[in-house]
Amino acid sequence: MNPLLLRSAVLASSLLFCSPVPAQTVSSTIAARAAGGRPSLNDPKSEKKIAALLEKMTLEEKVGQLVQYSAGQATGPGTGRTDYDSMIRKGEVGALFNITTARQANEYQRIAVEQSRLHIPLLFGLDVIHGFRTEFPIPLGLASSWDPRLVEQAARVAAREASASGIRWAFSPMVDIARDARWGRMAEGSGEDPYLGSAMASAYVRGYQGTRLDAADSIAACPKHFVGYGAAEGGRDYNSVELSEHTLRQFYLPPFQAAIQEGAPTLMSAFNSLNAVPASANPFTLNQILRKEWGFQGIVDSDWTSIVELIAHGIANDGATAAQKAFLAGVDMDMASSLYHDHLAELVRSRAVPEASVDEAVRRVLRVKIALGLFEHPFTDEAKEASAMLQPESLALARTAAERSLVLLKNAAPLGGAPILPLSTQTRTIALVGPLADDQNNMLGSWAAKGRAEDAVTLRTSLTEKLGSDRVRYAKGTEIIGGSDDQIAEAVRAAEQSDVVILALGEDAPGMTGEAASRAHLGLPGRQQQLLEKIVATGKPAVLLLFSGRPLTLPWAFENVPAVLAAWFPGVGAGPALVRTLFGDVNPSGKLVVSWPRAVGQEPLYYDALSTGRPAGNIDLTRPPKSGDDKYVSRYIDEPNTPQFPFGYGLSYSNYRYGQPRISKGQLSARTLNEQLRAGGRAPGAAVEVSAEITNTGTRAGEETVQLYVRLQGTSVALPVRALSGFQGVTLASGETKKVTFRVGPDAFAFWNDQNKFAVEPARATIWVSADSTSGSGVTLEITK
Ligand code: NOJ
Repeated sequence: MNPLLLRSAVLASSLLFCSPVPAQTVSSTIAARAAGGRPSLNDPKSEKKIAALLEKMTLEEKVGQLVQYSAGQATGPGTGRTDYDSMIRKGEVGALFNITTARQANEYQRIAVEQSRLHIPLLFGLDVIHGFRTEFPIPLGLASSWDPRLVEQAARVAAREASASGIRWAFSPMVDIARDARWGRMAEGSGEDPYLGSAMASAYVRGYQGTRLDAADSIAACPKHFVGYGAAEGGRDYNSVELSEHTLRQFYLPPFQAAIQEGAPTLMSAFNSLNAVPASANPFTLNQILRKEWGFQGIVDSDWTSIVELIAHGIANDGATAAQKAFLAGVDMDMASSLYHDHLAELVRSRAVPEASVDEAVRRVLRVKIALGLFEHPFTDEAKEASAMLQPESLALARTAAERSLVLLKNAAPLGGAPILPLSTQTRTIALVGPLADDQNNMLGSWAAKGRAEDAVTLRTSLTEKLGSDRVRYAKGTEIIGGSDDQIAEAVRAAEQSDVVILALGEDAPGMTGEAASRAHLGLPGRQQQLLEKIVATGKPAVLLLFSGRPLTLPWAFENVPAVLAAWFPGVGAGPALVRTLFGDVNPSGKLVVSWPRAVGQEPLYYDALSTGRPAGNIDLTRPPKSGDDKYVSRYIDEPNTPQFPFGYGLSYSNYRYGQPRISKGQLSARTLNEQLRAGGRAPGAAVEVSAEITNTGTRAGEETVQLYVRLQGTSVALPVRALSGFQGVTLASGETKKVTFRVGPDAFAFWNDQNKFAVEPARATIWVSADSTSGSGVTLEITK
């Protein structure tokens, strides 16, 4: 099948699940999925087996299934426990994580299945976030491809490798909506948009789980962190979150729902408090929404020590109360706190927790273990472990993924004439400058699972391979943090002696991005800005490659450097992907999945904001206000409201012209749309077709991601000025025109309304087919009663 067709098909199928849908359609969707061969937890045979096991289990053994510890490299504060062997033997542990070899996994598993009374296998989990050994671009980069099919393939590779090491459970995908670049964990997710985030969430789940969870190379997905974690106040990790129910349902929940509908059998509860109730003890989100409304039957796993943290939150004064609150709110498994181990049995005996609820939680855990085939095949073949890693196809995919993740932000012509990129292979000498030009470890990004620095190819290696060492003048120029005047002087000399300079600047992936890595300043760390200015001052044409887990506020660079490429952290294929892109073997096609701020003070910054009653409209926001008309609007007096680059933005070496969109009908009825919504289907009559012609006016073939946005006005609640409701990748030869058509139905018009329901209301809809979230002209549609 043509990969593009396949991609559109995937998108079309994801269209169904991406917009928020009412509760009643969810269970029918799950049933449809199960019938269609997706992994399912509803197997009557398993229920019998579970009932038989429960009959035999002591209370302590039941609690044991709900207990999980880290038995490898710690990814959080320690719990002080290491006596796992004896605990497993007694049936006191249900799952372990942070193990990364088949040998270790088998050793623990042998104790569980051969030496514990009931022989129940352990489940091994790990943060497999963007690859296991073959590291792909960080999730923010993967999402910038706007290619769910690619993400699915990357997750499949990760599943194959992780399962070969005994890992059958990935703490992924991270589907938190991230609207604030200060938050370090933006790097781990798919950006700010619920529609794109949902498409990516489903793609990860499909990739990890394949069509059968019990296949030896499938691993269970665990969407996280439920919920609202990305909305931490001030972008400070673990901070409190306030979200109205409308905002929660409209923006933050959809990617979780998409992952669950795709068949994710587990989910992780978050650290943060949500409207003053900690997410790991929140009955509204866990029991009401997740279980009752969405029909989720899998495991809710706490985040690392998030149960004992209920004490620090202030909703429990002791461990027993923390355990009770988390458990009754719907958290089945305790990651690393040890509080279920310490208190849950006693809570049952004192009737503070019903034993029936413990049984139910155990059922969920056993369901997942059975679905993964762990009872039949608890061990991993150690002989096959090594050969599963870094397969040539996996590495090729990692390079393709890296290429597709790159976002070209600027490409000007410094000396007039053609834009600086792509570089000519005739360029005589290139100065390669910057702390990230030859840093293998950083190429892997944060949460690199079993990734090794030695696997990553750097820009320096690939550039030298391409041009020969006599044509590449490498000078580090500075450290990411720290560095000396001498280093800068050496880099300036290298630039002066070269025809072009490539600068590789940015953040330190393990230290400055990911968990516990929020930043209050979003410029280049250390002396890198100084280095950049000195290099640009040489007058040599410069290309800036930014390595980061978030957008960086670099107004000077965007003004003064002719070409800038957002490289994120590209994974093991970094060097070749960058060199192929710099020299035009690849035409960049990535687009931003987060709004790129001009200044930190603009954060949180996101395109799908509400209009406010005093929108800035066409006022020139680059000037301070002079009159009442331009003062009393929602604006800053010292910075435009607009981002440096909007969501959806990304340049190519081609140019694309968008024709005026056309719509197949001028009216749709809200009643018909609501009927369709309730039926969970897409019948003719309840949708319009919106199409536009896209022309490649450039001189090279390229791929463009065409985006569809919707605005609804006249509704019971205020809705975003634009909301992404579709996207398609289209390849276009030079001079070629293609018509791109979107079917826009109930999902695009439904929203969480003032009656606390998902519904379509009479409204005026404006629909854009555009290259990003701010450009293009719209067509209108009347949604009548
Ligand atoms: C804490 C992180 O928040 C979570 O994402 C991760 O899965 C766990 N630690 C386990 O490492």
